[in-house]
Amino acid sequence: MSDIQSFRQAVESFIAARGWTPTRFGRAIAGDPLFVFDLREGREPRSDTRTRILKAMQDHADTQSAAPLRIGVAGLGNVGATLVRIIQKDGEELTRKLGRKIEVTAVCARSRSRDRGIDATDLEWFDDPVALAKWDGIDLFVELIGGEDGPALAAVKAALEIGRPVVTANKALLARHGVNLARMAEESGAQLGFEAAVAGGIPVIKTLREGLGSARIARVYGIMNGTCNYILTRMGNEGISFAECLKDAQKLGYAEADPTFDVGGFDTAHKLAILASLCFGCEIAPDEIFVEGITTISQADIKVAGDLGYKIKLLGIAQRSADGIEQRVHPTLVPKSSAVAGVDGVLNAISLETDHVHELLLAGPGAGGPPTASSVLSDILDIARGTRVPPLGVPSAELTPYRQAPMRAHEGGYYIRLNAKDIPGALAAIASRMGAAGISLESVIQRPDLRVSDDTAETGKTRTVVLLTHSTMEATVRETLAQIAGDGFIVGEPQLIRIETL
Ligand SMILES: NC(=O)c1ccc[n+]([C@@H]2O[C@H](COP(=O)([O-])OP(=O)(O)OC[C@H]3O[C@@H](n4cnc5c(N)ncnc54)[C@H](OP(=O)(O)O)[C@@H]3O)[C@@H](O)[C@H]2O)c1
Repeated sequence: MSDIQSFRQAVESFIAARGWTPTRFGRAIAGDPLFVFDLREGREPRSDTRTRILKAMQDHADTQSAAPLRIGVAGLGNVGATLVRIIQKDGEELTRKLGRKIEVTAVCARSRSRDRGIDATDLEWFDDPVALAKWDGIDLFVELIGGEDGPALAAVKAALEIGRPVVTANKALLARHGVNLARMAEESGAQLGFEAAVAGGIPVIKTLREGLGSARIARVYGIMNGTCNYILTRMGNEGISFAECLKDAQKLGYAEADPTFDVGGFDTAHKLAILASLCFGCEIAPDEIFVEGITTISQADIKVAGDLGYKIKLLGIAQRSADGIEQRVHPTLVPKSSAVAGVDGVLNAISLETDHVHELLLAGPGAGGPPTASSVLSDILDIARGTRVPPLGVPSAELTPYRQAPMRAHEGGYYIRLNAKDIPGALAAIASRMGAAGISLESVIQRPDLRVSDDTAETGKTRTVVLLTHSTMEATVRETLAQIAGDGFIVGEPQLIRIETL
């Protein structure tokens, strides 16, 4: 038999044994969908082409014969069910990329009967996530239950204790127990992946751990909560109130029935705590973060900010300062010309300011089943390939204790909205207090269309005034506002929004 004849026979046997179509062979092995058709019509490939294709066939066969990576998924909600679907649907493509088959062999959730759009026929079912985490029939445990303690923590610990790799999307768990879990993983030799825990589909953890491994990061900031960004974007574009936007966000499934965690800034704080640890090599300190949410942002704030060339975004910001590390989450005035100002709707963006790369902005979907499951999968692939990096970028023993820079020492520009009593001398008294404290004002705005109701008996007797300051200390601004309130010229709480230089 000639070389060409035996090559033809090898190709045909390969196709027949797998029940493939000629096109599939062409695409997956030969790199040309018409290859088999041409071969059958008498084309005689050159010897180097035959060698390449025979090698690809051999590699494919080797890949198929390698032991599969068996995955147990605990939590079959938005993210978990999507992950199982993707692995079931794209199994072959993943096997090709990985050189090894990956398969979900076991799952766990509360309700067995719920239809989750996945084929569960051959999957082992567990009611208890800890039992799944320890089961011998899996090589990797995926935690997609959520919650900082309870079953999620117990199951992750159970897997790490026996040296089993873990992938999780659980930011609350990581923010609270990340350092301990990283230590456990290092001690037992297991990997711990949590790409999906920060900014869903944006590969920021990998970028920090691997891509920017040697860079010194000075500041990290970003939009890390899609719900808040959606609400602020709609308030800006459509002139509707916070309450109305929140209601729509709930209807569309972007906000929970109890939205406090998102709109109160706590979700952003969890993500920021994880990022700060990776950026600055320090312990995770979620309780040290200054947190303000977006619930007090009014149409007047959005409108004046817009007129002055700013947008309002809920930012999480962590930066090194002489006094320690500043971590804060609050609504922020960002210049319209800045890159984050252009990130609207449910999208997220994270900016990393480094010594060598300067500024790197990563933007994309920060939540949702498919983007989040895709990040979970990227961790699974890394673990299957044998990639090993300390979970928090440096060995946990090398993490420095966290030292919080006092928020009162923060320095920057401020947007201040006051309801000043409509009486002679009120504005002059406010301006004079500012001047005496050395606060330099960039703008003073008072327009009838900015009226914000103060909901007090004095409604109708106040004027809404907006002051924009040049850079000043947080402590000075707060003390001066307390003095102004004490003078009796304002009604209600002043609105204070920080301006970030980007
Ligand atoms: N959704 C997103 O866009 C997103 C983005 C980034 C990160 N994450 C993180 O991903 C994780 C999962 O989020 P998700 O949105 O998929 O949550 P979800 O839709 O609420 O799903 C949670 C799943 O956990 C199961 N579960 C709850 N308690 C359990 C228990 N005691 N034992 C066994 N199973 C239990 C639930 O079972 P039943 O279905 O039977 O009730 C459900 O399948 C969370 O940590 C979340 O923070 C989510």
